Amino acid sequence: MCVLRALSSVKATSSRPVDPGPFDFVTARAVLHHVADAKAATGNLVASLRPGGAILLIEPDFLPVSVAEPIEMRTFWSGWLAWSRKRGIDYHLGRTLAPRLAAYGLKEIEGTAETAIYNGGSQWADYWRETITELRGDLVQSGKLNDALIDAFLAQCADPNWWTQTIAFTAVHGRAPDS
Ligand SMILES: C[S@@+](CC[C@H](N)C(=O)[O-])C[C@H]1O[C@@H](n2cnc3c(N)ncnc32)[C@H](O)[C@@H]1O
Repeated sequence: MCVLRALSSVKATSSRPVDPGPFDFVTARAVLHHVADAKAATGNLVASLRPGGAILLIEPDFLPVSVAEPIEMRTFWSGWLAWSRKRGIDYHLGRTLAPRLAAYGLKEIEGTAETAIYNGGSQWADYWRETITELRGDLVQSGKLNDALIDAFLAQCADPNWWTQTIAFTAVHGRAPDS
């Protein structure tokens, strides 16, 4: 079996086409949303498959945060998503995986999207607290979030009575047609 580890292949995620590949299985997790040209990168990953080979892509989709409560948290996430767009990150890529693979003629395309439900003080809340704290300077400097919204979010992350949902991790797989 010949396996391409997509994450370790900068070549696969570049916008330059790769030669058709012999790989039985190609996968990339949480990478394509960072890549400048996700369409070209997906094309390279698909091109690396042998006829009948399988591909599995796993990427985030921030759909669940659109129903976050209280409304101030939706405002926070809206600012976060505006910041990410400004930084070239596509946090809505998950929903595009299936149509992207279909556009390349792949067969047997299926997928799932799964989120986590968490409360303040949980590991997920700690993850977000640390992430937002680390990025705070850039988030504010971008003009997309302000200190008051960030402080409100961090306060929720410390409140065990606050329950919410996080990223929808979207996993989609498909198979290259047999030759
Ligand atoms: C959120 S992490 C995911 C890491 C790992 N794949 C996982 O699932 O745990 C994003 C990764 O994408 C890598 N990355 C970002 N831009 C990339 C690019 N243009 N080509 C290849 N890798 C890239 C980063 O170095 C980082 O390791």
